Amino acid sequence: MTIIVTGGAGFIGSNFIFHMLEKYQDYRIICLDKLTYAGNLSTLKNIMNNRNFRFVKADICDREAVYKLFEEEHPDVVVNFAAESHVDRSIENPEVFLKTNILGTQTLMDACRKYGVVRYHQVSTDEVYGDLPLDRPDLFFTETTPIHTSSPYSASKASADLLVLAYYRTYGLPITISRCSNNYGPYHFPEKLIPLMIANALNDKPLPVYGTGENIRDWLYVEDHCKAIDLIIHKGTVGEVYNIGGHNEMSNIDIVKLICKELGKPESLITYVTDRKGHDMRYAIDPTKIHNELGWLPETKFSEGIKKTIQWYLENTEWWETIISGEYKNYYDKMYHNR
Ligand code: NAD
Ligand code: TYD
Repeated sequence: MTIIVTGGAGFIGSNFIFHMLEKYQDYRIICLDKLTYAGNLSTLKNIMNNRNFRFVKADICDREAVYKLFEEEHPDVVVNFAAESHVDRSIENPEVFLKTNILGTQTLMDACRKYGVVRYHQVSTDEVYGDLPLDRPDLFFTETTPIHTSSPYSASKASADLLVLAYYRTYGLPITISRCSNNYGPYHFPEKLIPLMIANALNDKPLPVYGTGENIRDWLYVEDHCKAIDLIIHKGTVGEVYNIGGHNEMSNIDIVKLICKELGKPESLITYVTDRKGHDMRYAIDPTKIHNELGWLPETKFSEGIKKTIQWYLENTEWWETIISGEYKNYYDKMYHNR
């Protein structure tokens, strides 16, 4: 089996590649990644010499490069993680989100149609469902919840999902889609809530909580997400959407306080800053379908996963310090100075 994994130099894609190479020692995995600010070759350094692995630097929007790779490798499966993934950046500059997340998806699916695959899997997000009110804890996102997006990021992901479903209906492309809740774990880029708070706390810098900090996210350890995608590409039903989430809702402020506690840092570092525009209040996934159909259940409890994650950041300071001392510094100053 040959699998092209796009966006495999990023957070979830890299964790997925590690999982697949370890579990399926006869699979060939090709990572196609543009290496944007979020892609990091050092993340893949331990597998660069693995004979079942190949890295190709290319943009998923580059039709010529994508077709060339398909001609060379004839993949059986394509798993598309490649995306612009940060809501705050999408509010500043939506255009690149539309290009990569929508047109890049189209280019990949065109290649799948031209060369033939047994599966195209689109890695989507629970953010396509919009948000839920804080005073209705009985409500959850199911696969039939209407698409109702808030940010340019979620709108671009939802557009891609609709296009993927259109390619299934119109051309019979064998697709599946997964919509996962917020992930956390190793190699998470430090612009996102959990790694940002860990890095800032370790450097005794302010911990910028947007608005009141009451917003709720449904956190899943990244390995559990990777295992769910592994199940879907092997056993999932073509044409179907699967929600992935572990019923682990936490407010942002509780997460930040927990990180302070685990690191022995004072809560006085917490600084409330101007809220994100259009900030979604609550995400909560109902994962009944993937549980009933494929037997998936999350394995890592948040209390363990957050400890493992913090430990990883403590042991891999070079990985994230290199990032935060580079170009990322300009981003941080622009987004957080005088906020
Ligand atoms: P990330 O930002 O860490 O990584 C994205 C990767 O895609 C990077 O390696 C980047 O270089 C690459 N990339 C970006 N544009 C590209 C292009 N035009 N061509 C080729 N490569 C390109 O993202 P992530 O957090 O790992 O998310 C991966 C996927 O999972 C995304 O599609 C995202 O929407 C989805 N998702 C993420 C979460 C989460 O909590 N992080 C939750 C649900 C779904
Ligand atoms: P984020 O990690 O950007 O993921 P998403 O917006 O895709 O869910 O943010 C998670 C939550 O944390 C979200 O409610 C916004 C909030 N947040 C902060 O309060 N401060 C920050 O510096 C960041 C990056 C996020």
